[in-house]
Amino acid sequence: MPDADDPLICLCRRVRESAILAAADQGCRTLADVRDRTEANTGCGDCAADIEELLESVRTG
Ligand code: FES
Repeated sequence: MPDADDPLICLCRRVRESAILAAADQGCRTLADVRDRTEANTGCGDCAADIEELLESVRTG
């Protein structure tokens, strides 16, 4: 999938949007859940807001 369609959300761990959404699909509801499953947000921490935003978009459909 091209980068434009699937942006890197976590640069430290190179986790893309699709991986975060897949984790949400599999039941991850919080930043901590996503961290455990994908290792996103286990580096500098800067991607926290972006991950929260994705989770929020999943919650609200
Ligand atoms: S960009 Fe995700 S932890 Fe640094």
